[in-house]
Amino acid sequence: MKRIGVLTSGGDAPGMNAAIRAVVRYGIYHDMEVYGIRRGYEGLIDGDIERLYRRSVGDIMQRGGTILKTARSAHFQTPEGMEKGFATIKDLKIEDLVVIGGNGSLTGAKILAERHGVNVIGIPGTIDNDLGYTDYTIGYDTALNTVLDAITRIRDTSSAHERTTVIEVMGRECGDIALYAGVAGGAECVLLPEFDTDLEAVCKKVTEGVTSGKLHNIIIKAEGVPVDSHELVHTLADRTGRDVKLVVLSYLQRGGSPTYRDRILATECGMKAIDLIRHGETGKAIGEVDGRIIAVDLDDALKAERGFDLDMYKAVDILSM
Ligand code: F6P
Repeated sequence: MKRIGVLTSGGDAPGMNAAIRAVVRYGIYHDMEVYGIRRGYEGLIDGDIERLYRRSVGDIMQRGGTILKTARSAHFQTPEGMEKGFATIKDLKIEDLVVIGGNGSLTGAKILAERHGVNVIGIPGTIDNDLGYTDYTIGYDTALNTVLDAITRIRDTSSAHERTTVIEVMGRECGDIALYAGVAGGAECVLLPEFDTDLEAVCKKVTEGVTSGKLHNIIIKAEGVPVDSHELVHTLADRTGRDVKLVVLSYLQRGGSPTYRDRILATECGMKAIDLIRHGETGKAIGEVDGRIIAVDLDDALKAERGFDLDMYKAVDILSM
């Protein structure tokens, strides 16, 4: 019987549990023994591993977080840490390893494959949507909807008090959460890491909005923008004379029950991982392009440049005038 391992690594993302469930149940369906590695690569180093059965993954599909727990393992990035992780894989006779995580986690899998010849398959799990080879990552849709819900609520109180509100969202160096939540939430401005921030233009937009009768101004700022959010709020208040508040959504964006979209993507990715393993394919990253599930070489996946929708970015300004 083929033995495979599965782990979640890096920041958790809603839908990771649905991916684990698909890997476990579809793997067992195809006569595989599935082992869950806890706390990502840390668990691989420590041998913190349990055999997973069909019932082990019952009632988890709808839950955010990850039943396997997760970590950002600095130890695994050292040759000694990776050596220990590899020893665990060898001792347990794990033939294939499914890694669910973002950029750093898939890079870890790639290095493990290159240095030690481990068969790895990567599944994109991160709210950031910052992997260039796939249109969507697991967790992104849920995070977007969470941010959208927050914007809707904040808009109510901003209108009531005629305030300007800066909402800081996650995404690392990627502005997707900020941009798409901004468009869907009717924000006046979005500040993205992909562009330099023009403070003058933001102040002008706020002032023009007030003059034209707007009750509120919503500014979505991606965390990757190299401007301190508190300083931004002070500057805006000073220059526009408005009452400006800051809301940092932070970890709120990572929790919650995954949306339909994230559950389906996670399920499809989990099943695809098993199919690749069955057919002896390795060193692949799974993703979704133009609505289809794809698998590309991990190396190419990690080098792929992210596309950017400039029209969508321009739309924020045009539609909020
Ligand atoms: O990668 C997901 C993410 O939530 C980023 O958006 C954010 O910058 C980071 O993780 C926060 O990481 P941590 O949980 O280590 O604070």
